[in-house]
Order: sequence, then structure tokens, then C-alpha cells
Amino acid sequence: MSTAPFHAAPFDADRADLLSPEAVADPYPLLAALREHDPVHWSPRYRSWFLTRYDDVDAALRDVRFSSDRIAPYRRAKLDRPGADAGLRYAFGVLEEWMVFKDPPDHTRLRKLLSRGFTPRAVAGIRPRVEQLADELLDAATSSGAGTLDVVRDVAYPLTASVIAEMLGVPRRDQDDFKVWSDRITGLVFGGLADDGRHADGASGMAELTGYLADLVAAHEREPADDLLSALISARDEHDSLSHDEVVATGVLLLFAGHETTTNLIGSAVLALLRHPGQRALLDADPQRWSAAVEEVLRYDGPAKTVARVMAADVELRGRTLRRGDRVFLSPSAANRDPAVFEDPDTFDIGRRAGRQLGFGVGLHYCLGAPLARMEAAVAVPRVLARVPAQTVDEDRLRWAPVLLSRGMERLPVRLHPDPPGAR
Ligand code: HEM
Repeated sequence: MSTAPFHAAPFDADRADLLSPEAVADPYPLLAALREHDPVHWSPRYRSWFLTRYDDVDAALRDVRFSSDRIAPYRRAKLDRPGADAGLRYAFGVLEEWMVFKDPPDHTRLRKLLSRGFTPRAVAGIRPRVEQLADELLDAATSSGAGTLDVVRDVAYPLTASVIAEMLGVPRRDQDDFKVWSDRITGLVFGGLADDGRHADGASGMAELTGYLADLVAAHEREPADDLLSALISARDEHDSLSHDEVVATGVLLLFAGHETTTNLIGSAVLALLRHPGQRALLDADPQRWSAAVEEVLRYDGPAKTVARVMAADVELRGRTLRRGDRVFLSPSAANRDPAVFEDPDTFDIGRRAGRQLGFGVGLHYCLGAPLARMEAAVAVPRVLARVPAQTVDEDRLRWAPVLLSRGMERLPVRLHPDPPGAR
């Protein structure tokens, strides 16, 4: 990964663009320049603020004035008027039910109920199944004799999609449809709010997915099973439970949150270890270090490039005023390479203590799926690496997704080990 200065000439913050081809391929030089020269950056291009210093990102993620309620204002401004697209209004209505887009007290209520269904114990119990799925996918992908493997498309993506679909209780025969709908709503969530054609596709994907889930929830209401949907339906405290619509919307959230980001983590972990054979050798010598390695990948090149907020009040920060209603992007990727917190931050070092990394966020909205994501990565990455020799990344065909919020590859082609595992 390049650590060259972003500009030899003086840094021109107004021209900074995280979606330029160079910054999509490697955002870290630009994020470093912003962190150093313009840590509370107003982007005319995105009409948004960008915060890049660790202390600012950490504080803002814990500060309710940086509101998560960012879907409802958009819906009210753009979709609650005559002639607005009804499908899109429906799709944004589902997103509005997601707790990740809510502030207290609505967020507190949903999080409490959801946490009851989504426990670390439930995650630990499925590890053997994740191992089996990963082996099956790798066997299928490597038996073709093609000699190459696309880590993202052949393994990470189908693995994480199947795991969350199975956890929810989606029958295997329906899982392909499920993945297609989920892909289509990606544009709505990660594509930002600009309508560039992905919205219509996303809206129809949302309608099909929620229609499917509503039937599945109804079936689970009649006949509970040992899965996450049934746990959500029965999740209740003394006063409260989730409504049918909330269970459906939460199913979409978990499906969505559960697979795109974890796919990106698995891809980034494989890439980092292929590019750093010395670190990979440390893991070969001591597999106990895998959890530290996953943590370091989350710090060094994690999937959460930015997290969006909307200002609920005016806030002064480093001499700038963030006004109520302004959009703000908080960058865990930038914070995680802040030299004020991490020594030698551009170095990938599985021996460091990366515990303070912000790759799963922090505060009220701290990622609920962190134990699942860590486990899936710790299962998948060593299995992939067991089948690929050193230095085999096809760098010319590797492609990063041009997305502001997340950092992940669309393709990670690698050459395969000539011998099957066991023959070495
Ligand atoms: C490496 C993989 C993952 C990364 C990097 C990641 C990252 C994040 C981040 C940064 C947030 C905070 C968002 C915010 O503050 O606005 C978040 C929240 C969330 N994540 Fe994850 N996530 C991952 C995997 C998962 C998985 C596997 C699931 C579940 C199946 C999941 C479910 C959630 C949920 C439900 C929230 C909302 C929590 C709340 O609003 O209280 N995530 N995630």
C-alpha cells in the first residue's frame, strides 16, 4: 500500500475527492493529508463535512448531536410530495425502521430487543457450519482446474451471504433469490443519496425482499424454529416486543449489514497477508495470533471508510461551525491511521495492540455483528491462504468498489497453489 505524500504541491483541500480513481484504489494518502491539514474539512463536492482525526471521530460517534436519524429527513424532503416515486418512498420507509438510522429513545428500544436475539452465544454455535460452508465453497471454486480464484466472488461473498441467510432461517432453495435482492438494495444504502438509476433497482429489490421476508416471518410466527427470525419474533421485555414490520425491516438490516461488510473484511485480510509475507509467516508459526491479525486488518484497511451523520445542533470544532442539518462523514479509516494514536500507522503489524481501532464504530451504535464478522474472517482467511502461494495477487485485475462509505474489493483474483492441501 502506497504511503507517498498525497501532493508534492501544497495540499488543496477543496479538490480532495475520495471517489477519484486514485483515492478509491488507495484512500490513505488523501485521508492523511486531510487529517494533517484540514481535519474538519468542508467538501464542496459532497456538500458535507469530513472528520479524520481519531479524537474527533471517536468523540463524534459518541455524541448524540451527531445524529443517526438521516433517512427520515431525506424522505420528508424528497419523497413526501405528490409525484414522488412510491416504490422509493416504500424502500426508504423500510430503511427508516433500521436502528442504525435511529437516535434514542427509538434506537435504545430496538437495540435492546435485537440484542436479545443476536447473542455472542448464537454466533459461537454456528462456527462449525461456517467452517463447513467455507470448505465447500473453496472445494467448488478450486476444483474447476482454472488455477485461479476470485477471493471475493468465489468465497467471501457467497459465504457471508449464506451464513446470515441460514442464521435468519431462509431455506437454502431461496438463498439465490435472497442474494440478488440484497445486491440490488446495496445501491440504496451504500450508493449515497444521489439518484443515478440505482435507486429504482434498489426500490424494486427492497419490495421483493420485504415481500419474501413478510411471508417467512408469518410462517415463523405460526411455527417457530431455532433461528434468528424466531428469536426476533419472540424477543420481548416486560413491556415491549418487535412488531411484524419491525421484524421484517430488521431481517433486511441484518442480511445487509451482515454480508457486504464482512465480505470486504475477508478480502482485505487476504490481500494484506498476501502483500506482507512476513506477517503471514508469523501466523503460520503461531495460529493463536489470528484474532490479533483480524483486529489489525480492521485497523489497517477495514471496511468502514466513513460513517454518516446529520448534525442535530450547531457544533464548534477546531474553529469551524458544523450547522444543524449539515451532513458529516466520520472516517474510521482515517482515524485508524492517526499517528497520534497508532505508532507507525501505515505499517501492517499483527503484533501491535490494535484494540482501540474504530472499524466497528463506537458508542451507542457499536456494531452488533462484530463477533460474527470476526469469527467469519478467522474461519475464511486461513482457509483461503492455505490454497494460495505467496505473492500471487493479480494486481492488475484487482478492483476496489468506488463507494464513499465502505472500502472493499469487487474482485480479488489470486493464483492457486499447484498442489491440493494435504499434498504439501
Ligand atoms: C467486518 C464486518 C463489519 C463491519 C466493518 C461493520 C461495521 C459497522 C459499523 C461501523 C457500525 C456503526 C454504524 C454507525 O455508527 O452508524 C455497525 C453497526 C451495525 N452492524 Fe456492523 N459491521 C460488520 C459486520 C456486521 C455483521 C456481520 C452484522 C450482523 C449480522 C452487523 C450488524 C450491525 C448492526 C445491526 C449495526 C447497527 C447497530 C446500532 O445501530 O446500534 N455488522 N457495523
